[in-house]
Amino acid sequence: MRNSRIGLSVALVTAIIAGMWCAVPGMSQEKKPSKKDEELRTFMRKKLEACNQVLEGLVTEDGPMVVAGAKALNELSSAEKWRVSNDLMYRQFSEDFTRTTKKLQAAAEKENFDDVALKWIDATMTCVECHKWVRGTRVAKD
Ligand code: HEC
Repeated sequence: MRNSRIGLSVALVTAIIAGMWCAVPGMSQEKKPSKKDEELRTFMRKKLEACNQVLEGLVTEDGPMVVAGAKALNELSSAEKWRVSNDLMYRQFSEDFTRTTKKLQAAAEKENFDDVALKWIDATMTCVECHKWVRGTRVAKD
């Protein structure tokens, strides 16, 4: 029972990530990237690496691996480069994300993998929501 529930959560998360993966590249296609854009991209791509670490830790029930990924995500979200926009909505998404990665870390420290799966879904939803918002406002400004 416990395992099948985790299996379901993981399938869901994988589906979400697959959707996100398809959705994200469209954001930076409008113009030729400057050096600053490139730097931002490299930075943003680190999020994906940390995500992989979390997911791998989740499916192998490796608490310390999830903790490491969650910490990396948390640190990235507090870095200067993350603050792409000072907009209230953007800040809200950032704060949500930071809060969720903390909860993810706490669940992993307790080795409570059901909870890790749920917090992981929360975190992934924040990725998707923020990207959706970023794309929407860019389109609106064009
Ligand atoms: C608070 C808002 C926010 C959150 C939350 C967020 N991102 Fe981003 N992300 C951005 C912004 C802004 C960009 C840059 C968009 C651009 O300039 O094209 C970006 C770009 C990216 C890119 C594209 C880099 C490229 O090659 O162009 C990836 C991949 C990415 N984010 C992954 C993630 C993942 C994975 C998560 C969740 C763990 C996440 N992001 C959460 C704001 C966010």
